[in-house]
Amino acid sequence: MQSTASPKTYRVKSFGCQMNVYDGERMAELLAGEGITPAPEGQQADLVVLNTCHIREKAAEKVYSDIGRIVKDWDRADGSSPLIAVAGCVAQAEGEEIMARAPAVRMVVGPQAYHRLPQMIRDASAGRRVTDTDMPAIPKFDALPARRKVGPTAFLTVQEGCDKFCTYCVVPYTRGAEVSRPHAALVDEAKKLVDAGAREITLLGQNVNAWTGDNAKGRRIGLDGLIRELAEIPDLARIRYTTSHPNDMTDGLIAAHGDVEKLMPFLHLPVQAGNDRVLRAMNRSHSVDSYLAILDKVRAVRPDIALSGDFIVGFPGETDAEFEDTLRLVDRVGYAQCFSFKYSPRPGTPAAEMSGQIAAEVMDERLQRLQTALNRHQMAFNEASVGRACSVLVERKGKHEGQWLGKSPWLQSVHFTADVAVGDLVAVTLDAAGPNSISASVRSGT
Ligand code: SAH
Ligand code: SF4
Ligand code: F3S
Repeated sequence: MQSTASPKTYRVKSFGCQMNVYDGERMAELLAGEGITPAPEGQQADLVVLNTCHIREKAAEKVYSDIGRIVKDWDRADGSSPLIAVAGCVAQAEGEEIMARAPAVRMVVGPQAYHRLPQMIRDASAGRRVTDTDMPAIPKFDALPARRKVGPTAFLTVQEGCDKFCTYCVVPYTRGAEVSRPHAALVDEAKKLVDAGAREITLLGQNVNAWTGDNAKGRRIGLDGLIRELAEIPDLARIRYTTSHPNDMTDGLIAAHGDVEKLMPFLHLPVQAGNDRVLRAMNRSHSVDSYLAILDKVRAVRPDIALSGDFIVGFPGETDAEFEDTLRLVDRVGYAQCFSFKYSPRPGTPAAEMSGQIAAEVMDERLQRLQTALNRHQMAFNEASVGRACSVLVERKGKHEGQWLGKSPWLQSVHFTADVAVGDLVAVTLDAAGPNSISASVRSGT
């Protein structure tokens, strides 16, 4: 089969975490730099990049069904075939397998190698099938083009990779070791994002709070130091960061929540389970008590903080009583929002080999019970915020005439009717709470 000679249009489809969204944007910028333009809505693209996630089984399986669909839908009469690239964490973990299982795939590119896409596209257009899953010493960031125009909220990867090796997780294998991007590059990229229209920046990392670097004076600083410095950028209104690991939650970072006004009152701090034996088997290296102690400290400096977490139910060997401990933890913390998953054995991880794998129906039942509890707490958090005066950063138009959607400081979706524009920070009062969003009215005099 002959591929599209040299692609004129592209589509990048990102799955998984926010870092993949960031990587997808950077790949789009690279392709734009090559003169390739986004395929118009509803039209086939000459080049499709599937930016994949390997975190759970279902996420990886989606890739193969997507490839099948792209090939099946290809309806050009010129004898060509689509140029398909598989990027992201499935590419890193299963590069060779993808090439063997999906002959339609022309390129496989790992998360640390995608700056080399332009050359790969030239090779693939010439008929070769190319794989690049290197983790090069010179980071991709140095080779990426400058940021383009962005919306009011932007992601900025500050740290990548993970050295924690939780026994269930593929990330240390797909993203590599923990690496912090240099301070100067981050300050520069943040300023460019703000110049391009960003009012809010979310700092990203698999363990974002493990970030460390030398500031302009050569002094070693942590994420709190970086946040304090970014807060000095005049037109930047809001700063967030995700995802944090409990072990890297320093006193400095906790203190920043108390005194950096631009740092939003939201903390995503995954705990995974509410039982110490399970946490040890997961190699989480924190206990239930040490986790709760961190939350107490954060609440002491920022009482209104919205807390968020990740949970896994049905880790190998998890008993009913141990699962009940997770429910108890959830009730103690009162999360504002959470993600919860059924344990998914990942090839090559220690937990996949452990005895005591839990039956699917037990996992289903546990997940349902956990999600019922989490939804109850989310609703309670939203209800408790009714009557609060706050700012909303306008992100887009709503479904109804004159309606706008944005986020509260606590990351709740807020909708309201007013004469505003995307990127405005609007002073509102939160009026009525639903499970997933809040309605608000604009405060007069603003
Ligand atoms: N670095 C972050 C999150 C990484 S992955 C952290 O350490 O918390 C995002 C979430 O996916 C994890 O927090 C975990 O809850 C979930 N996850 C990871 N591996 C999983 C697996 N094998 N099965 C089910 N959920 C998993
Ligand atoms: Fe995965 Fe654990 Fe690392 Fe998070 S800390 S990315 S869950 S290994
Ligand atoms: Fe998925 Fe890789 Fe992110 S496995 S969650 S895309 S780091």
